[in-house]
Amino acid sequence: MNEEQRKQQGQIKSELNIERIKNTSSDDMIAKYFQTNYELQAPDIKKARKRRNEEVQFNYDFSIPEDMQAIGKDKKFLIRTYGCQMNEHDTEVMAGIFTEMGYTATTEVTEADIILLNTCAIRENAENKVFGEIGHLKPLKLENPDLIIGVCGCMSQEESVVDRILKKHQHIDLIFGTHNIHRLPHLIKEAMFSKEMIVEVWSKEGDIIENLPKVRKGKIKAWVNIMYGCDKFCTYCIVPMTRGKERSRRPEDIIQEVRHLVAQGYKEVTLLGQNVNAYGKDFEDLDYTFGDLMNDIHKIDIPRVRFTTSHPRDFDDHLIDVLAQGGNLLDHIHLPVQSGSSEVLKKMNRKYTREEYLELVRKIREAIPNATLTTDIIVGFPNETDEQFEETMTLVEEVGFEAAYTFIYSPREGTPAARKKDDVPEEVKKQRLYRLNELVNKQAAESMLTYKGKTVKVLVEGESKKNPDILAGYTEKSKLVNFNGPKSAIGKIVEVKITKANTWSLNGEMIESKIEVN
Ligand code: 5AD
Ligand code: SF4
Repeated sequence: MNEEQRKQQGQIKSELNIERIKNTSSDDMIAKYFQTNYELQAPDIKKARKRRNEEVQFNYDFSIPEDMQAIGKDKKFLIRTYGCQMNEHDTEVMAGIFTEMGYTATTEVTEADIILLNTCAIRENAENKVFGEIGHLKPLKLENPDLIIGVCGCMSQEESVVDRILKKHQHIDLIFGTHNIHRLPHLIKEAMFSKEMIVEVWSKEGDIIENLPKVRKGKIKAWVNIMYGCDKFCTYCIVPMTRGKERSRRPEDIIQEVRHLVAQGYKEVTLLGQNVNAYGKDFEDLDYTFGDLMNDIHKIDIPRVRFTTSHPRDFDDHLIDVLAQGGNLLDHIHLPVQSGSSEVLKKMNRKYTREEYLELVRKIREAIPNATLTTDIIVGFPNETDEQFEETMTLVEEVGFEAAYTFIYSPREGTPAARKKDDVPEEVKKQRLYRLNELVNKQAAESMLTYKGKTVKVLVEGESKKNPDILAGYTEKSKLVNFNGPKSAIGKIVEVKITKANTWSLNGEMIESKIEVN
């Protein structure tokens, strides 16, 4: 195609885009997409559970097609990320792909040639935020019909969401799923030259794509995927449907990535997975678990190793023994409990009881006496009684969580819990959340007070958000510390004497002579 033809095509596309936005879509159009472009990935728990036998394909051959390698020259991309670290890390991969295509990043929507919304489906309010943003972007598209707007991430894996976008948001050019990220160059090309909305959401969920480029957000801390998907099927959770089946990366690929990060000067890695403790369970040729992986990473010369998220059910004794070695394996464990009531846990399909959770905590504390525990809790699961909620409150006290992410239960279409009738009024749920948060805040503040006058090791991330004269970083136990110190400390692990404790952060003074040379 020569320059003139390309221009003409661009022109045609602009006009067609305008037409498409002006015309509200018809059901015919939706039917067409579902037959052609869209392989249905509706949440179907029965079908999903059978998937464990599917073979995992490993693909090491990612490359940008030649005709797409310079397509982003003089163009800018913007990715808005919602939700968890997994999404944040997917955004780093997509940024890597864009960069290899010649695009540069922007934070201004008005400057962008392509905007992607990397979405989260975990609760309804997360989805509402995205639909709000989709609406806000419409005028931009009308002003600049060549702008490409895409929706990706977990929401794209939901049939109802794709349906709603097709019906009501014709200014969206592109929808792609969590298994389709490596197809970004092809999808962008299609979106550039097609007059219709491109929808590519695969139901196939067994693949692992290695060697994807990444542009990481910082140079100090890095995320490393160790596995994808989840086969736990907690009854409230949409993740097993949006992220596919549990599949582990090969240990050598993970170790190589961590070594590479060390060589680049990174000081901390966080190993990522929806349920990291299930790592390796899907290997047919290898007897290698999460404990083994942590043991191998323990030997690598990186100062800090974290992991998230754990499932109590798969947290085995071997892992506890490995973590007890300390060193670069930090003693902050995020261990989502979800509820303190065995009856509710059963309804949630968590596969452990209150007593089993407490026993696990006892074992962890015995092996790692100073371990800091944090958690996730859902209040107002369908028909949760006052007594059951009180059990959550007593468990929080008994364990002494130093922080917790707390949520009101949000029904997710296609999950078993969403079909349950619920007799708990919204007001009661809000009241429960309020009380739980009061307790969590109290425990957080108390744990912070114990640091007053003590010296802690802080990995310095940069200037404090509120005051550029102050530095900020995190302790081994993930406490935020704001302190006075020289800018040369950024990227290093330094010792800081704590002078003041707040509920969610600490203030201090750096001990100058104690900059660790790494
Ligand atoms: N409603 C409320 N909270 C949820 N979570 C997962 N699904 C739901 C839901 N449907 C919470 C759990 C999980 C965290 C990431 O989000 O606590 O650990
Ligand atoms: Fe969802 Fe976590 Fe349960 Fe998996 S283990 S279903 S991601 S809450």
